[in-house]
Amino acid sequence: MERTFVMIKPDGVQRSLVGEIISRFEKRGLRIDALKMMEVTEDTAGVHYAEHSGKDFYVSLLDYITSGPVVVMAVSGHSSVSVVRDMVGKTDPKKASPGTIRADFGMDISRNIVHASDSPESALRELNIFFRESDYSEYSKPGEKWLYP
Ligand code: PPS
Repeated sequence: MERTFVMIKPDGVQRSLVGEIISRFEKRGLRIDALKMMEVTEDTAGVHYAEHSGKDFYVSLLDYITSGPVVVMAVSGHSSVSVVRDMVGKTDPKKASPGTIRADFGMDISRNIVHASDSPESALRELNIFFRESDYSEYSKPGEKWLYP
């Protein structure tokens, strides 16, 4: 089992896509281990996107991510990092494959609805920014023992 970090960005919340996005992960067989709606502070956004500091889109990216509430979650399952990244699609929604979240709901790279960790190392780092150990819940989904013996 692997755990990854997902954020539904302010445009996803404002466009009422929260349920749709969570539902896709649940129906795929992934498990939501932790979930909360919050506003991201400038400081937290800076830590989360530290690797992009200095890039031309950095300031607008921080403005965007701090512009309204987001929904953050921990999503678990076999190879959840790559599975979730595939479900999210390419960074630019115009280049994302049909059936991915970004292609199905977006057109604009600066409003691309959702963030998902790009590696297990990033997932751990990002989960630790947004969650404490006590935020995680343990439960089994029906059939999970068969899926994940
Ligand atoms: S890079 O340079 O290849 O590392 O960038 P990339 O991984 O494609 O994107 C890093 C994050 O920046 C967001 N991004 C943008 N935001 C606003 N405007 C523009 N033009 C833009 N280009 C990239 C992109 O969505 C990534 O954010 P996350 O939250 O990780 O998806």
